[in-house]
Amino acid sequence: MTRRLHLLLVAVPLLVAGAVTPLVVDPADVDGTVEAHGAAAQPDDEELLATGRELYERSCASCHGEEGEGVDEPGQTVRGPSLQEAGEAAAYYYLSTGRMPLSNSDDQPVRKPPAFDDDEIEALVAYVGSLGDGPAIPDVDLEGADVAAGGVTYRANCQPCHSASGSGGALSYGRSAPRLADATPTEVAAAVRVGPGQMPVFGPEVIDGDELDDLVAYVEYLRDPEDPGGLPIGRTGPIPEGFVAWLVGMVALLVIVYWIGTRSPIRRSRA
Ligand code: HEC
Ligand code: HEC
Repeated sequence: MTRRLHLLLVAVPLLVAGAVTPLVVDPADVDGTVEAHGAAAQPDDEELLATGRELYERSCASCHGEEGEGVDEPGQTVRGPSLQEAGEAAAYYYLSTGRMPLSNSDDQPVRKPPAFDDDEIEALVAYVGSLGDGPAIPDVDLEGADVAAGGVTYRANCQPCHSASGSGGALSYGRSAPRLADATPTEVAAAVRVGPGQMPVFGPEVIDGDELDDLVAYVEYLRDPEDPGGLPIGRTGPIPEGFVAWLVGMVALLVIVYWIGTRSPIRRSRA
């Protein structure tokens, strides 16, 4: 009786949590990010642009120039490239992933906690967007996206650098393609359109709007793929998994052999 009660005490909260979590987490996660940033670009919002300009002058102009024209070092390295064609998409990608502001022009920009809050990012994105006519932040609509079709696009275009599982990989010159699991849907879509660093630009003529939605859905799926069976072991693939199974089997066999040995009548009679 107490045992059954115990079971009930454990099972009921678990069931409730299981039923509630998807409802709470999913829509907020996906729609929230997309909506918040879709609304970012209102070029006629003068206050927003003024705030953006102020932040820009303080944190970005030293490398990217007063008017976003870029700054050449007296040597041959560029302190910061021109932002006039970067667009809101690039500004959003670099700011929301914390890659900008960079502290040293020679470093590869890497993902960090953003240096600015959401309002500041919105203002900076609008300001950088107003410098020229670069790409806007893509609208992502994951509803009805075709994950399998996205997988085909992913394997053809992204897998060579980011690996089959999205865990990233090394590139030349000591640079690397990052893992994709930290990127929000809008960040993934922005990266595709912007082609940051060594990543190529994939414009709408290569990956159109619907294909981009499918692709983003696939990258989301990679974060938490349904398991095809067996232990995941870091999703290293069937060969290492087979090896681990073999190793476990061998050890089990040895244990059994040893166990049989210790129980054998010969040994017992000697003891
Ligand atoms: C220390 C110098 C430095 C500072 C400060 C800096 N950047 Fe950059 N920025 C760079 C460099 C260098 C690159 C090129 C990075 C690369 O791809 O390797 C870059 C790239 C960019 C790009 C992409 C340009 C393109 O067309 O692909 C954007 C957008 C950008 N920065 C925005 C900003 C913003 C906004 C700020 C201020 C919050 C900022 N940066 C501060 C050096 C800097
Ligand atoms: C030639 C190699 C290469 C290919 C191909 C490539 N990428 Fe990238 N990707 C990179 C590199 C390098 C970066 C880091 C760039 C930077 O910010 O300096 C990156 C960054 C990203 C990021 C940002 C990740 C984060 O969380 O910070 C995303 C998302 C991304 N790529 C998605 C894609 C998708 C989707 C495709 C296929 C359409 C793709 N990439 C194809 C090299 C590549």
